[in-house]
Amino acid sequence: MKDQSTLLSVRNLRTEFQTQNGPVKVVDGVSFDVGRGKIVGLVGESGSGKSMTALSLMGLVSSPPGKVSADGVFLDGTNLTQLHPDEMRRKRGREVSMVFQEPMTSLNPVKTMVQQVGEPLAIHTDMGRRAIRENVLRMFETVGIPEPAARLDVYPHQLSGGLRQRAMIAMGLICEPKLLIADEPTTALDVTTQAQILRLMMALRDRVGTAIIMITHDLGIIAEMCDEVNVMYAGQIVEQASVFDLFDRPSHPYTRGLLASIPKATEKRTTERLNSIPGVVPNLAKLPQGCRFHPRCGDAMPVCQVQQPELTDLGNGHKARCWLHNKQGGKL
Ligand SMILES: Nc1ncnc2c1ncn2[C@@H]1O[C@H](COP(=O)(O)OP(=O)(O)O)[C@@H](O)[C@H]1O
Ligand SMILES: [Mg+2]
Repeated sequence: MKDQSTLLSVRNLRTEFQTQNGPVKVVDGVSFDVGRGKIVGLVGESGSGKSMTALSLMGLVSSPPGKVSADGVFLDGTNLTQLHPDEMRRKRGREVSMVFQEPMTSLNPVKTMVQQVGEPLAIHTDMGRRAIRENVLRMFETVGIPEPAARLDVYPHQLSGGLRQRAMIAMGLICEPKLLIADEPTTALDVTTQAQILRLMMALRDRVGTAIIMITHDLGIIAEMCDEVNVMYAGQIVEQASVFDLFDRPSHPYTRGLLASIPKATEKRTTERLNSIPGVVPNLAKLPQGCRFHPRCGDAMPVCQVQQPELTDLGNGHKARCWLHNKQGGKL
């Protein structure tokens, strides 16, 4: 379909849930691309729709209550939205895999590490037990698990959080997928382990060429790892840019707010640091008219209260969904 350098192309992804308050659009018209071997960030406050975007494009939202639609989710030219669930299951783990925030909830407590980490090989290949064991051992070495042979036959609770997360990454990479989706993979870990895991992911990208969608609420992680960034707010992308452009010329007031709330190196890092943007993420069942961010925006103009801005190209593929950058907007 497109040029060879595009691995994943997400077009107009929409995810809706039926709730007691009526339908809510948790993902609302999300479009972005991931180049081969690139690291692309999805960043935004909690509840902005990052995880739902990932689960939706992986075909992991259960219906009902969810309903996912899209103009297309193309992985290497194949439209994932048109695959039979069995075909999608074959792609997951082999071509695309996902690592979640808390490994304990995604690991089975009664299976040994080699059983689980090797499971994608058991499902997707005809490898025998011995070959799977050797592969898991090699992957444990790759992800920096010390004394890897001694960790094969233990259960998840016998490993530290950092080692469990390394094992999850090993499992995500064991079939050498083209794309790894990492959803807050280091949020539950201490700062040192976090830095090690992020370095590991970047090294794997360099060595294996795996593209990564990095989901995080932490712009520091984005700055360190990503090539491109998508900033999400209330189910929509509000700014899309290369990492350099995003930090050099943040164009959406929400992005500027996120940047202003990154702690200085001298300050203590806390999980509350995003609270320096006044107000809260809107209730998706009762979205404000106009721009979804306008009630929290210091730059809001009259037009922002009545009309929703489109994601507008500011040049060089840098896009923002904001009337400040849309010529027609200022006139109302
Ligand atoms: N099963 C569900 N029914 C209704 N709303 C949901 C459901 N699951 C998630 N949501 C809503 O979807 C929105 C986006 O959630 P999520 O993608 O998890 O955000 P993020 O990962 O950015 O923190 C939130 O407002 C959340 O409340
Ligand atoms: Mg999430």
